[in-house]
Amino acid sequence: MGSDSSPLPIPPDLEAVLLATGLGQPCYYFGAIDSTNAWLREPAQADLPAGALVVADYQSQGKGRLGRRWEAPPGSGLLMSLLVRPDWPVSQAVWLTMLAGLAAVAAVQEAIGPRRRAGLKWPNDVMLADAHGRWRKCGGILVETTLDHARISMAVIGIGLNVTLSAEQLPPAITPATSLLIETGQTISRWALLGDLLRHWQTSYAAAQGGLSPQPVWNQRLITLGQAVTVTYAAGETAPLRGVAETTDAWGGLIVRDAQGQRQTVNAGDVTLYDPASS
Ligand code: BTN
Repeated sequence: MGSDSSPLPIPPDLEAVLLATGLGQPCYYFGAIDSTNAWLREPAQADLPAGALVVADYQSQGKGRLGRRWEAPPGSGLLMSLLVRPDWPVSQAVWLTMLAGLAAVAAVQEAIGPRRRAGLKWPNDVMLADAHGRWRKCGGILVETTLDHARISMAVIGIGLNVTLSAEQLPPAITPATSLLIETGQTISRWALLGDLLRHWQTSYAAAQGGLSPQPVWNQRLITLGQAVTVTYAAGETAPLRGVAETTDAWGGLIVRDAQGQRQTVNAGDVTLYDPASS
């Protein structure tokens, strides 16, 4: 699909949200596409300005972290990619993941209200607590950067949120999944969610452009910290690491104190929270 599919006219309720925020300009809306991230990274889109936004109802090859797929039935999720051109040193790339996670979790919390808690599971899973307080994944973030002389000339901030998926529609995943509908019983507007997310993004991205690290706020939103965790790595790479997640370092790495009392830094992998119910 990708370059074969063409943008559609923007639905009026999406247009209204974009007008109200003044963000997401220009915006490209697709009924179906391979991946919103992939589309923004095609050479044909190389000249798009920072702030360009792509939204799709359906992705046939939605990309997830660690080479995985991101799947959602048509119209059931917020599937978006935002183009930014921060010109930051590559060492600051992790700020983009932090900022995206913070914007997504703030928008989700606003949408669901105080009856359920939203949080982030390291590094970039958007989580919702279910009725029993168990954390479930309702969204994910995939940031893809393009470098020029060790600076970030372009980045695509891809965000997927499960909005109206039913329990039967949830894809099987390492981290148990949920949707905003399942946790609240309410059909929340994808476009309202997008508007809130863009507003939060804009405020904290501007602060980061001014040099303010999002890391302290990100740490506060990480449900992982202070928890017993198991870290698993790509198949066959290394034995799982068990320990207590203590904090993160300036590069976004997770610091885990293992059973021997040693601090280990985790830069990639899947983190499972200790579940007292299964022990
Ligand atoms: C993850 O948790 O593995 C990250 C998932 C990111 C999915 C979003 S959906 C919109 C954007 N386009 C993609 O192809 N992926 C991201």
